[in-house]
Amino acid sequence: MASWASGFIEWRRSRNRKAIMKLKRTHDCGQLTRANVGEEVILNGWVDSCRNHGGLIFLDLRDRYGITQCQIDPATTVGGEEFKTESVVAVRGTVQPRPEGNVNRKRATGEIELMALECELLGPTKTIPFEIVDDSDTREDLRLKYRYLDMRRAPLTRAMVFRSEVTRIIREVFHAERFVEVETPLLMKTTPEGARDYIVPSRLQPGKVYALPQSPQLFKQTLMVCGLDRYFQICKCLRDEDLRADRQPEFTQLDMEMSFVEPDDVFAVIEKTVTRLWKELLGKDLPATFPRLSYREVMDRYGIDKPDTRFGLELQDVSAIAASCGFQVFSGAVAAGGSVRAIVVPGGAELGRKKIDALEAVAKTYGAKGLAWVKINADGFQGPVGKFLTEDELRAMMAKAGANTGDLMLFVADRNPVVYASLAQVRLALGRELDLIDKSRTDVLWVTEFPLFEYDEEAGAWFAMHHMFTMPSTPLPDRPGAAMADIHGKLYDLVINGNEMGSGSVRIHLPEVQRKVFELVGMGQEEADMKFGWFLRALEYGAPPHGGIALGLDRLVMVMLGYDNIRDVIAFPKNASGVCPLTESPSEPLGDTLDVLGLQLNPDFFKKVETEG
Ligand code: AMO
Ligand code: AMP
Repeated sequence: MASWASGFIEWRRSRNRKAIMKLKRTHDCGQLTRANVGEEVILNGWVDSCRNHGGLIFLDLRDRYGITQCQIDPATTVGGEEFKTESVVAVRGTVQPRPEGNVNRKRATGEIELMALECELLGPTKTIPFEIVDDSDTREDLRLKYRYLDMRRAPLTRAMVFRSEVTRIIREVFHAERFVEVETPLLMKTTPEGARDYIVPSRLQPGKVYALPQSPQLFKQTLMVCGLDRYFQICKCLRDEDLRADRQPEFTQLDMEMSFVEPDDVFAVIEKTVTRLWKELLGKDLPATFPRLSYREVMDRYGIDKPDTRFGLELQDVSAIAASCGFQVFSGAVAAGGSVRAIVVPGGAELGRKKIDALEAVAKTYGAKGLAWVKINADGFQGPVGKFLTEDELRAMMAKAGANTGDLMLFVADRNPVVYASLAQVRLALGRELDLIDKSRTDVLWVTEFPLFEYDEEAGAWFAMHHMFTMPSTPLPDRPGAAMADIHGKLYDLVINGNEMGSGSVRIHLPEVQRKVFELVGMGQEEADMKFGWFLRALEYGAPPHGGIALGLDRLVMVMLGYDNIRDVIAFPKNASGVCPLTESPSEPLGDTLDVLGLQLNPDFFKKVETEG
């Protein structure tokens, strides 16, 4: 018995010696200054670099708070050696001032260094597959595969810390405004937001599936019927759609809903939140209320419903002059109900042919048949449309568009949607190419008075512009048709520097109006009941008038930091093919995962679709 006990105690002792961290940090790597000179301290961190200078080793030790330079003398420092980059090391040492010439003003710890008395390797590393530098040019898939290394880069660490501050402030504002934070289910029935649902087959209910939420839209409206009055949530939304630089299949929304409100009440809460975020985290003053532009106005001026207003080059409508001109491309477009619009590039007569051709290529990508142009030189007009238009017509267009000698005028003639889409992109390309965007500016605005419905020519059907739950502000027509184009709703978007940051509306709270909207977008009563019967029923039991909005949190953080890739503000994002290279998901189902669900995958189905499609 005695021998068992002493053996156990001996085992405990040896365990403890290992288990207790001997060189546990007393400070972090961004903390030490001149004030600490003379103190003995312990730092723990990653080896940012380790350089051997003729016997003395200079070790830059890094954690998320900063970098501290340590000097190791292998002759006297216990355990001192040249450590491998990115291994985890503990250093005990004395803080000393750096000699005047060696002070690094760019670092908070740049006035001191640590003279190492003792070092210990806490976590060895393999040789890293890429260098950990701020401006990494390593291909993204490799960085995503080793995301834990990638995230050690300062811009990514900064993004995570910043994002956490953003959500802290959001919670502070919303709690102060008496909002209740409620978590809504992930396993649920469809909530359409214009994408495909991800589905989860049910084991307990054979043959049935859950849909993952594209947003908590219907639950947040139901919470208003519950009487919660003011709800918010920072939640994951999942949408099976094609990915772009500013999109992820799963992303985060700041979602909110309020009862007994008009758009102004929603605007006030969001304005308070956004101005506080900019003030506290970026030290910038935004206006207390944001400008409001109608959908009509932004389309006419910028051709797009998320305009970047940090530069000019607004669209100019020259249709009235073009209607009667001799250039059939122009007059024909107006006669067919379309328009001719122009962008005037001040001083653009200097632009070379190559640049103009590149702009025409942009216009064509967005459906334009061409990009007509004319340079206004001191000695006359130059360019392909010059010969189709009379001097009087050209002068009238110049006057209408505000062009002067030395400028370039670019035209698109087509159906309005094509004119808008192509010129909007030509404008943005010019803004980038000519460096016209003032990056120091933050332009925040509301776009309001959207049409409720839009017609999709390809599908030959009407769709809800935002979603089907927005209250119309004018009476609805009896049946689907052209009259739907004139219906407006209390719909609004928040736009920051040309990014769609949020969308919301005042909702339909009357079941008969909701049924009518379903019908107008081509959803029969049976389908409506199958998909949304539960929700229509909720509206039948005392639903308050209500409205809300959702902001894209990832996009918000991206814009605040001035990053241009949404993946740089998400800890573990998917790549452009929807793959997570770190975990190698999606992956083949493991073991009996599918069997217990009675499922079988058929990858050949996709091959068939590809070859047929
Ligand atoms: P909406 O679909 O416009 O509205 O989404 C709101 C905001 O979420 C962001 N967002 C995305 N961010 C990253 N990746 C994506 N795939 C993605 N999709 C959308 C955008 C967008 O403005 N339920 C409504 C809101 C409401 O009416 O209250 C909704 O989800 O910044
Ligand atoms: P074309 O007569 O097709 O050679 O076109 C003459 C010029 O008009 C070229 O510069 C074309 O790019 C331009 N153009 C052709 N169609 C359009 C259009 N729909 N809108 C604007 N420019 C066009």
